[in-house]
Formats: sequence, structure tokens, C-alpha cells
Amino acid sequence: MRRTRDEMSQNQGADLKDMSELVSLAKRRGFAFPSSEIYGGINACWDYGPLGAELKRNIKDSWWKVMTHRPDIEGLDAAILMHPKVWKASGHVDGFSDPLVDCKKCKARFRADQMDGMLCASKEFKGRSLEKCQADGLLTEPRQFNLMFKTHMGPVEDSGSIVYLRPETAQGIFVNFVNVQQSSRQKIPFGIAQIGKSFRNEITPGNFIFRTREFEQMEMQYFVKPGEDEAFFEQWKEARMQWHIDHGIRKEKLRFHEHPKDELAHYAKKAFDIEYALPFGWQELEGIHNRTDFDLKQHSSFSGKRLEYFDEQEKQRYTPYVIETAVGCDRTVLVALADAYRKNDERVWLQFHPKWAPYTVGVFPLMKKPELMEVLDKVVEDLSGDFRTFVDTAGSIGKRYRRQDEIGTPYGVTIDYDTLNDNSVTIRDRDTMEQERVSIEKIGVYLFEKIKNWKS
Ligand code: GAP
Repeated sequence: MRRTRDEMSQNQGADLKDMSELVSLAKRRGFAFPSSEIYGGINACWDYGPLGAELKRNIKDSWWKVMTHRPDIEGLDAAILMHPKVWKASGHVDGFSDPLVDCKKCKARFRADQMDGMLCASKEFKGRSLEKCQADGLLTEPRQFNLMFKTHMGPVEDSGSIVYLRPETAQGIFVNFVNVQQSSRQKIPFGIAQIGKSFRNEITPGNFIFRTREFEQMEMQYFVKPGEDEAFFEQWKEARMQWHIDHGIRKEKLRFHEHPKDELAHYAKKAFDIEYALPFGWQELEGIHNRTDFDLKQHSSFSGKRLEYFDEQEKQRYTPYVIETAVGCDRTVLVALADAYRKNDERVWLQFHPKWAPYTVGVFPLMKKPELMEVLDKVVEDLSGDFRTFVDTAGSIGKRYRRQDEIGTPYGVTIDYDTLNDNSVTIRDRDTMEQERVSIEKIGVYLFEKIKNWKS
């Protein structure tokens, strides 16, 4: 059944307004659960359920493919625990801290640099502005709080055995610069990409998986000749924005934000964030940084090892500059969920890019009758090699469509009694709810074509 353009535009659906709707859908349908929930949970740690794990895997795979399946970028998987001197050299031991203030009355903790417009949430002072609390002398003076988690390596817990859980994956790339360059025989410009866990003891985590204490990063360091850094910076900035758009994130909800000079990180010459308009405001999704030769020079001076590049053609040795692209995987999951969330009077649906959707196709027999199930088994067997397929036999077809809409499955294949005569099935599109008859042997080609031409 085809819908008119008017019907379709009325059915674009309203966006996500309130994070609690998303958090409850995520829990109910198995995207994300509070970690250790049976013990009351642990603040700012989340476990991905079956659908969340699949969504996250799809996001990581698409990033990995676009970043490393090209001749000038190599992949890396470095250890989380690194020599403690790494963090001295990188500046994290001395400088990776946020200013922390405590309320002497209600014991709440805040970041001194994020108090503007914030309200106290305690029972006693609920709704009172923090400026007022400060004026009344309720807040302590800010003190620097280092965000790195510490642990001990080996059986003796003394100051000589301290190691840190890495707060960014980038340093694993810098310390391996020469190993990777020499083993892969890459010539500058080239990049090293990595996906992995990072840990930060954030003072104010929250907003679901937006700011957590354990998270995954997808980072790429692109090593360039000094002097060519500004041009590569522009290229990567545009390429990374395009990646989000190419995966269905709506353009109008994305923007760049340039870090003003006085807010630049100690290592950066220039930095732009890609921001997304979440229900709680424009927020950083990804950072693109010109890190100059800061990290390689620091590690060179702390380790005593040369971290340079020799340009054979120009017979010139130099320390490369680094353009970094750094995006949180969990934050991309959050943006994917928030951007996909649509609601109207009829239904809630997640309008994921089909490549990111946990399932690509739902397969439904009109009724659970042996003659229909026989065809279904064959269809599922044919499709499962190429598409993540889900079979639902319970409830009315309408209910089954709604269940798949709510988890973002873009296509539904229904096998009905006509199938037995004409060897074709009905394929329903999640976004338009349009249905088309397609012969069984063409389902795969039809779906590949739909995915290729999909637009948000
Ligand atoms: N190597 C550079 C670096 O780590 P960053 O801006 O601190 O830069 C990069 O982090 C990205 O990692 C952020 O844009 C965000 O997507 C993600 N990220 C950072 N802290 C996070 C946290 N506490 N929880 C979830 N994601 C986080």
C-alpha cells in the first residue's frame, strides 16, 4: 500500500524531547542497562544489552572500515595499561584535572567551570542556584582533581607500583609511532587508528551514556609534515563531519564549535568539536585537534628514543605534526539513538541508518502454520548470510511491525498465503511504512538496493 506525500510528511514523527524516554526504551528493549543493577547500580557505568552491543559493534565496524581500509592508515590495538612515564610525558599526571568544589552542607560535588546556571539538587536546597550557594559560603574553594584512575601493578601496593587506566587511547599510538611506521613501511602522510576503552574519573558524569567513567574511543592520529598540518586539519574536519551525515545523523543537528585560544588543551594548536543537539543542549560528539609535534617530542625527551621520520626523497629528518580525530563510541551510540528516535500518535520508531540498525530485517509468517513456516525457514536461511535477521511469530502482524519499529529494524518481510501461489513476499519499509511485493529470489538484491539508497 503506497502512501501519499502528505501522509508521509505528517508521519515524519516528533523528535526526542526528554532523555528519560530514551533511557526507558533502551532498558526495556535491551540496548543498555545500568551496570550491576541487581546491587543498586554503579554510578555512570552502563552495560550494553543484545541490541546495544550490536549497534555499538556496527558503529565500530563502520568507523574501522572507513578509517583503516585505505592505503594510508594502519590499525593498532595497544594495551590499556602503559608505563607510568607515558602519562608524565603526555602531561596527564600534572595537568589532566578538573576544578572540583564540594558543598559543605549537602555534600554534592560540582565542576567549578560548569556551575553557570546550575541548580542544587539536594532535598533541602532543591532549585537554588549554585551562585547563591557560593555567595552564602556553602561551597569549598576549587581544588584540582586528577581524572585518571590509579591502580597497582604486581603484589606490592606502594608508590613505585602505580599504573593508570589510560584516559585516552591516543598515547598508545604515539608511543608506537616508530614501530608502526617501520613495520608497515608507511610514508608520511599516514595515520594510525585505534578503538579501545578509556577511563576517566569524571566529577559530573551522567546523561545516560553521554559522560561515563569507562567508555570506548575511536581515535586516529594522522602524521604529517610540519607546514602541511593546517591543510590536513581542514580535510579531516570535513571528512569526520561527513562520516556522521553519511550514517544518517541529520545535518541540521550537527555543527562545528571551535575552541577559543584560551580554552585549547595544552597540546593543541587548533581544535574543533563536532557537536550534536541533544535534548539537553549542543554537546561535543567528536574532537578534531592539531596536536603539533607536542606528543612525539615529549615522549622522545622522556624516553630518550628518537621519534622522528626520515624523508628519503628530501633526505630530511623531522618530527611529524599530528592531526587527531577523536570520537567516543558510546557517545556515537547515544547520538545514533537520540537522532533515530521518532514518535507520532501511531508508533515510536528508531530511524537508524540500515547499516547501524541492530537487525536489518524482520521476517514474519502471517500465521504460524507449517506451510508458511517452511517457506520462512528457507527465506531466513537465504537472508542470514548477508543481513542480521530476526524472526517474530507472536501476535498480530501490526504488533510485530511496531516491535521492530521500536528497535529500528528497517525492513520487514511477511510471508502470507499468496506467497504459496506467487512465490513472493511483502516487504515493509520502517520509515515510510510502504509495502511492496517482491519475489523471493529477489529479496536480497531488493534489500541491498534499498540500503544503498537509504536517506534519513
Ligand atoms: N585524544 C583526545 C581526546 O581524548 P577528548 O575530547 O577528551 O579528546 C574525545 O575525547 C572524545 O571521547 C569526546 O569527543 C567524546 O566523544 C569521548 N569522551 C570523552 N570523555 C568521555 C566520557 N567521560 N564519556 C563518554 N565519552 C567520552
